[in-house]
Amino acid sequence: MTSTLPALEHVHLDVDDDGVAVALIDRAGEAMNTLSPETATDLEAVVRRVEEDDTITALVVGSAKKDNFVAGADIRWLQQIDDLDVALDLMREAHAVFARLENLHRTGGKPVVAAIHGACLGGGLELAMACGIRIASNDERKTQFGQPEVKLGLLPGAGGTQRLPRLVGIATALDLMLTGRSIRPRSALKMGLVDEICPREVLLDVAIRRAKEAIGQPALDGDGGPVARLKSWLSPKHLQELALEENPVGRRVLFSKAEEQMMKETKGNYPAPKAILRVVKTGAEKGIAAGYAAELEEFSKLVVSPEAKALMGIFFDSQALKRDTGIDGDAAPRPVAKVGVLGGGLMGGGIAAVNTTGAGVRTRIKEIDDAGVQRGIAHVQGHVDDRVKRRRLQRRDAAKAMQLVTGTTDYRGFGDVDLVIEAVFEDLDLKRSVLQDVEGATKQDAIFASNTSSIPIAWIAEASKRPEQVIGMHYFSPVEKMPLLEIIVTEQTADWVTATCVEFGKRQGKTVIVVNDAPGFYTTRILGPYMNEVGHLLAEGVPVEDIDKAMVRWGFPVGPVTLMDEVGIDVGAKIVKIMQDAFGDRMAAPEGFAKLTADDRKGRKNGRGFYRYENGKKQGVDDSVYEVLGVEPSTKMPMEAIQDRLATLFVNEAVRCLDEGILRSSRDGDIGAVFGLGFPPFRGGPFAYVDAVGADQFVATMDELAATHGDRYAVAESLRKHAEAGTTLRS
Ligand code: NAI
Repeated sequence: MTSTLPALEHVHLDVDDDGVAVALIDRAGEAMNTLSPETATDLEAVVRRVEEDDTITALVVGSAKKDNFVAGADIRWLQQIDDLDVALDLMREAHAVFARLENLHRTGGKPVVAAIHGACLGGGLELAMACGIRIASNDERKTQFGQPEVKLGLLPGAGGTQRLPRLVGIATALDLMLTGRSIRPRSALKMGLVDEICPREVLLDVAIRRAKEAIGQPALDGDGGPVARLKSWLSPKHLQELALEENPVGRRVLFSKAEEQMMKETKGNYPAPKAILRVVKTGAEKGIAAGYAAELEEFSKLVVSPEAKALMGIFFDSQALKRDTGIDGDAAPRPVAKVGVLGGGLMGGGIAAVNTTGAGVRTRIKEIDDAGVQRGIAHVQGHVDDRVKRRRLQRRDAAKAMQLVTGTTDYRGFGDVDLVIEAVFEDLDLKRSVLQDVEGATKQDAIFASNTSSIPIAWIAEASKRPEQVIGMHYFSPVEKMPLLEIIVTEQTADWVTATCVEFGKRQGKTVIVVNDAPGFYTTRILGPYMNEVGHLLAEGVPVEDIDKAMVRWGFPVGPVTLMDEVGIDVGAKIVKIMQDAFGDRMAAPEGFAKLTADDRKGRKNGRGFYRYENGKKQGVDDSVYEVLGVEPSTKMPMEAIQDRLATLFVNEAVRCLDEGILRSSRDGDIGAVFGLGFPPFRGGPFAYVDAVGADQFVATMDELAATHGDRYAVAESLRKHAEAGTTLRS
C-alpha cells in the first residue's frame, strides 16, 4: 500500500499502486463492527473519495476486526430512535450512501468488492449487497450471512428488502427475511448471495485481485457477480423458482402462500413480517424505486413501534444477563470439568446433552438400571446427530462429544465430579436420599443441584451435610431447545456455588436468571394462578378451545389447557397443592382438577387429557372431559374477557415475586417469563407489559375483576404504588 488517506475514525483507507482502495471497517472502541450514524459518515467519506479521486480505480470493502465483517446496525442506536421523521431522515441517508456505492460499480467504472469474513448480518449484509462483487471466507463456523431484523421487530431498512430478492430470488429472500435465520458460506455461494469463497488467509488478496480483473469490464446487470452466480442461476431449482417468480400469477401464489404461513405463525401480532411481505411485493410488482420507498416508510414505522421496542428490550436484557454473575458479591466461580447427572430420563438426558455439546464437559449419567443408562446416552446421541445434520457440529467433533459421556448404575466415577445435577422423579424423599448418596460419593466441594420443578430447595437441603453447596438448577423441557435456566438459591447457598452454576449454565448455552428459594420459585409460581383460573373458566362453562384460542391469539405459543396436558394434569395437581399450602386460598385449586385426576387423566403422557390423542398426536377436545367436570360448555365469553382473566393473574403474580424478593430484578422477571414460559416476546415480558399498558390501567382492570371474582384478583402492593405515582416497573 502506498498512500494512506487522512484518517477516519471508523474506517482505515489505503490505496495501492494500482489505485485499488481498500477500506477496512474498524468501529472505534468496539469489539464488533456495527452500523450507526458514525460509521455511515465514514463510509460516505470513503465513497466520496472514490467518486472524486481519479487515481482510484476500484474499491475493496472489508473489516479490520478479527472474526467480524459487520454484525448489523447498532441496536443501542436503533432503540433510542423515537420519532418517525427522524428515523426516515436517517434511513434516507443510509439509502443514499449505499446507492452511491452501488453506482460506483454499476455505472462509475470502479468495481466494488466486499471481502467478508465473520458475521455479515443485517446492515452488514445490506452493505455487502450494495457492493458489486462479494467474496467470502470459507470459514463455515465464523462466517455467516443473514437478515435477522425480523427478530427485533424490524425489516432490513438499508435496501436489503430489494437487493436480496434480486440476488437470490423472492422465495429464498422471503425465507431469510421472515425467519431471520443465518446461512454459512457454502450455502451463500450456492444461492448466489456471494460470488466466490476462499480461505480466510487469502481473502483480501483475492478480493483485490478480483477488483483489478473487473476494471474495464462491463458490470453484469447491477448485481455484477461473475461465474459462480451464473452457475447458481442455471441450477434447476433456481430456474423453477424464477419461472414462478417472473410470472405475475406465480408471484401472486407465492406471496399469498407466504402471507398465509406468516399469519399462522404470528397470529397477526407481529407487524414486521407483514411489512416485509408488503415491501418485497411492492418492489417485485412496481419496480425497485417503489420498493425502496416502501422499505423506508415501513422501517421508520416499525422502528418506533412498541413491538420493536419490546423485542429490542429483550435483546438488551439477555445481553446484560450474559455479563451478570448472578451474585451481588464478588465470589469467583470455580472450574467445572466433570459433571454427574442423576437420572437419564427426559430432563437428565437433555441436561447431559447440553453438557457435552454446549459446555464440553465430561458427564457421567447415573441411572437405576442399564436400560436407564442406555436411554440417557441414546438421548445425547440423538442430540449430537441432530446437530451434525443441521451442520452445527462437525462429524469428528460429534465423536469427541460422545466420548465425554459415560454411564453407571452406582456412583462409580463420581469421586472427581465438580457438580451433580439431579433429575430423578419429583419426590422429596427420593431427592433427599440421592443427595445423601451423592455426598457420600463425591469430594468435599462438589455442588449438588436439583432440577426439581416445584419442591423448595431448602426442603431438599435439610438432608444435606453441606447445605451451602445445595442449589436449584431448573431447566425447561426440551432442555436442548429451551433457552432459560432458572437457578434457585436458598439462604444457605454459598455465593461461589451460585457463581459457579451461573457460569456453567452459560457454558451450556443458557440464559440464566437467579431467584430466591420459595414454593414454585419464579416460573412455576407464576403459572399457578394462571392455570387455576383455567379451572374457574371451565367451571363457568367456557369451552376448552375458546380458552386456548384466546391465549394463543394473545401471543403465547400454546394455550394454557394444551400446556396442562403437556405438563401432566397429575404433575399440575401436585404443584397446585404445594402452592396452596404456601400461599393460601388465593392459590386454591378449583374443584374440577381433583375430579380429573380421579378420572386418571394425566394429559398427553397417558393419552387422557383435555384433548384426545391418537398415536401421540393431539386431536380435538375430548368432550367427555365436560362430563367429568360436570359442566356444559356453552358460555360465550368474549376473547378479550378470557385474556384479561388469565393474563392479569400471570402478570400480577410476577410482580408479587419481585415484591417478595424472589426475583432480583424486573429484568430477570421479563426474561424468565419470555424465555421459560413463552410469554409473548412482542409484549416484552410481564413487567414491560404493565409499563406498556400503564400501571393505572392494569390496576383498574384487576380491581374490576376482584369486584366480581374476589381476592384471587387482589393486586400486588407495588403495582398500586406505581399506579398512584405514575411510575414504571422497568426503569
Ligand atoms: P423422567 O421420569 O423422564 O426421568 C426420571 C429418571 O430418573 C428416570 O429415568 C428414572 O429411572 C431415574 N431415576 C429414578 N430414581 C433414580 C435414582 N435413584 N438414581 C438415578 N436415576 C433415578 O422425569 P423427568 O421429566 O426427566 O423429570 C425429572 C425431574 O425434572 C423431576 O424432578 C421433574 O420435576 C423435573 N422437571 C421436569 C420437567 C419436565 O418438563 N418434564 C421440567 C423441569 C423440571
